[in-house]
Amino acid sequence: MSNISIIGTGDMARTIGARATAGGNTVEIMGRDQSKAADLAKALGGGATTGEWGTAPAGDIVIVALLHDGVVPVIARYGDALAGKVIVDISNPFNSTFDGLAHREETSIAQAKASVEAFIESLGMRPLDVGGLKMAHWLEGAGVVTVGLANHGVGNLNFALSITELPV
Ligand SMILES: NC(=O)c1ccc[n+]([C@@H]2O[C@H](COP(=O)([O-])OP(=O)(O)OC[C@H]3O[C@@H](n4cnc5c(N)ncnc54)[C@H](OP(=O)(O)O)[C@@H]3O)[C@@H](O)[C@H]2O)c1
Repeated sequence: MSNISIIGTGDMARTIGARATAGGNTVEIMGRDQSKAADLAKALGGGATTGEWGTAPAGDIVIVALLHDGVVPVIARYGDALAGKVIVDISNPFNSTFDGLAHREETSIAQAKASVEAFIESLGMRPLDVGGLKMAHWLEGAGVVTVGLANHGVGNLNFALSITELPV
């Protein structure tokens, strides 16, 4: 099991935090609004704790669950406090109209590929590797496809894209 810290107190922090505590991981919540962080930690239960914003996270894996625009300033604020940590940035780098990415082709907001396979399995999910760091750009594009489906095909965000292996 893993020690994780989640920076953020929104919907994704709640969802990942719930699965992480259910999977037996140690969870710390950090938010710029300390009372929101405390409320979320209490709601999660499972021994979840609250960390102080901007100080060294307790977790070895740090999940950054913030809106895209906030990620770089917040990481810069934490600075050396994140030294040695595995950083998992889950933000979708959408443009302002949510029909493309906020950066040019062939680049990605991902800067490092870390092994978080065991932690993902502890969330009850199946990690699949799509290849090297260059593939992060196309994974981010899958987020744009998801928003398009939500707006035009499905009609809401209550769905997931999945991989189904066909019998050969
Ligand atoms: N990878 C995936 O599969 C996936 C799926 C869904 C969403 N996401 C991404 O996950 C991220 C979080 O989504 P969410 O649904 O949890 O959003 P949310 O409910 O709106 O929560 C956003 C969180 O970010 C904080 N925040 C926003 N701007 C900030 C800033 N400038 N500085 C510090 N904190 C800031 C908010 O703090 P306050 O409450 O204090 O405002 C809140 O804790 C988004 O980037 C979204 O695109 C990824």
